[in-house]
Amino acid sequence: MLRWRRRIQPQGAEECVGRTISNATMGLVMAGEQIFNAAASAKQGSDTIFGWWARYQNAKASGKDAVNGTIGALLEDDGSLAINKVVDAAVRAAPELEISAYAPLPGLPAFLDLSKTLALGECRGPLEEAGFHFASTATPGGSGALYLAANNLLERGQTVMLRDRHWGPYKGFLVNNGLSFRTWPLLSSQTNTEHPYFARSEFEGVLGELCKEQDKVMVWLNDPAHNPTGLSMTTNGRAALFDSFVSSALRNENVGHTLLIDAAYALYADEPHGWADTILDAVEDGAPWPSNLVVCISVSLSKSHTIYGLRTGALVSIHPEQEITDRINTVMAVTGRQTWSAAPRIAQYCVSEMHSTEEGGAAWEEERDRLRTLLVERRAALKTACSAKGIPLNPTMDGFFAWLESDDPVALAEACAEKEVYLVPLDGGVRIGLCALALSDVEKVVDALSYALS
Ligand SMILES: Cc1ncc(COP(=O)(O)O)c(C=O)c1O
Repeated sequence: MLRWRRRIQPQGAEECVGRTISNATMGLVMAGEQIFNAAASAKQGSDTIFGWWARYQNAKASGKDAVNGTIGALLEDDGSLAINKVVDAAVRAAPELEISAYAPLPGLPAFLDLSKTLALGECRGPLEEAGFHFASTATPGGSGALYLAANNLLERGQTVMLRDRHWGPYKGFLVNNGLSFRTWPLLSSQTNTEHPYFARSEFEGVLGELCKEQDKVMVWLNDPAHNPTGLSMTTNGRAALFDSFVSSALRNENVGHTLLIDAAYALYADEPHGWADTILDAVEDGAPWPSNLVVCISVSLSKSHTIYGLRTGALVSIHPEQEITDRINTVMAVTGRQTWSAAPRIAQYCVSEMHSTEEGGAAWEEERDRLRTLLVERRAALKTACSAKGIPLNPTMDGFFAWLESDDPVALAEACAEKEVYLVPLDGGVRIGLCALALSDVEKVVDALSYALS
C-alpha cells in the first residue's frame, strides 16, 4: 500500500507530505518522496505471499473451513509450526555467554567447520584430499549468504543468471547491489531424456552472451528442492550444467565464473549433497578446474534446523587455491562487518555443539526425518490425486513446494479461494505450499485446482 496524505489547498493544489504540488503531478509522488532515494522509492510493501496468507487467516477467523497452502514454513498436520525438538532443546541449554556475546566477525570456528560439512556432506573429505580448499563465513540465514554473493562477486551494473521460475526475493538482493538478472527456462522446451530438467542450450545461450558483455558471470541455482516448484535436478542434469559452466570458464579465461548453489531446502531432499557429488565426480574424472571458477554454496539453517528466526547460515566457497579461499574469507567477513556486523552467535554455538557428538547428530537427523516424512507424504498424495484428475502439476520431488504453471495465476488462485483453498499466485504459476498443508487437506486442494482449471 502506498500511503498518501491529501489535503485540498485553497488554490486547488494539494499537499503531499511537506510539499505543495499541482493536482496533475499529485498522482506520481509518494509519501516521503523528499526523504527517500530513488531505490527506496521503488520498494513497495505488498508481499504476495503474506497477502494470500492474510486472506487465509481472515477466512479461518470468519469460521470457514479454509486450507492454508500459502506460507513457506513447515507446519505440522494440526497447523502448528513444526519444530525440530532436538535443536530446540540444544538452544534452550545455551550458556548465558553464548546468548549474549558477539560472535567473531567471520563466525564461530566450530560453526564454520560444521557449515562446510552441511554444504558438502560426505564429499567434503574426498574433495579436501583432492586438493580443494573451502572458505566459509557465517551469515544471518541463507539470505545473508546471498547478499554476500550479490555484493562481491559481480560488478554493479552486471547481470546474474537465474532460472525463469525463482524465489521472488532474489530480485531484491540483486537490485540492492546494483545488479540485474537474465533467465533461462526451468524446463526445456525440447524433450531431453538425458537431463530432462536442465535446459542446456538455453542456459549456454544466455551464458555465452553474458561472457561477451561482462568480465564476471554468476549463476544462482536453487537446487535441490527448488522454491517454488519442488524440482530437483537429476545427476545427469547437474553434470551437464557443471560441464557447460566449466567449459565456459575454460573458453573465457578472462571472465570470472561463479556458480552459486542455493541449498536452502537441501537437507530435506533425497540427495542433499548432490552438487558436491557432481563436483567430486567431475574432479575424479579428471575435469580441469580453471582458476577463474568458484563454486559457492549458500547454507541456511532456517528450515533444516527449524530456526527461521535465529538467522543463521553461511556462504561456503570451494576452490583449489588456498590464496583464493583465504581472500574470499576476508572479503566476506569484511562485508558482513560493514552490513550486519557479526551474525548471531547463539545458534552457531548450539548447533555446532549438537552436531559435535554422534548422538547429537543422529538425534537431529531423526527429527529431520520425521519432518521430512510430512513433506514426502503430502507430496505423494498431491501427485497421485493430480494425476488421477489430469492436473498437469510440474515435476516436483523435494522440499516445501509444488507448482502448477499458469498463464493467469491470479485467476487460478482466485478460483481456488472460492473453494476456500488458499495458494500463492506468482509469475508463471501457482505455488502450492505443501509445507503448510495438512495431509488431509490435499484432496481438497486437488478438487479446488480441478474446479479452477475447468
Ligand atoms: C529459495 C530460498 N533461498 C534462501 C532462503 C533464505 O532463507 P533464510 O534467510 O531464512 O535462511 C529462502 C527462504 O525462504 C528460500 O526460499
